[in-house]
Amino acid sequence: MPHYNHALCHIDEIEHESAKGFELNGINFFVVKRDNITRLYLNSCPHLGVPLEHEEDKFLDGDNFYIMCSSHGALFQPEDGLCIYGPCQGQRLSAVDFEIVDQQIMINSAVLTSS
Ligand code: FES
Repeated sequence: MPHYNHALCHIDEIEHESAKGFELNGINFFVVKRDNITRLYLNSCPHLGVPLEHEEDKFLDGDNFYIMCSSHGALFQPEDGLCIYGPCQGQRLSAVDFEIVDQQIMINSAVLTSS
C-alpha cells in the first residue's frame, strides 16, 4: 500500500477540462482534469520520450478532449493514457498513483527518487 506523503498541489489549481505541468526533482509530471476524472502522468511521450506540451500547460488538443503530443500529434485518452492516434498508437502514458487528501493531490515521494 503506497504511502502518499508529498503534496503536489491543491486540486483547484487545475481548471476543469485542462491540465497543468509540474517539475519536481527533475521529473516532469502533469495533472489532467476532464469530465469528472483527475489523472496524473509522467510528462513523457511514449514515442520518443520527450515532453508533450509545446507551451506551458498546453497538454490538451484544440477541443480539450484528448491529451496531445505536440511533436507528432499523438492523441491520448485522459482517463487511461492510452494512445489512440499517432506513431505510438496502442502505447500508454505512464500513470502516477496519487490520492486526494484535504483537497491536496498527494504522491508517494519514492517516485521523486530517480534511479
Ligand atoms: S514524440 Fe510524441 S508523437 Fe512523436
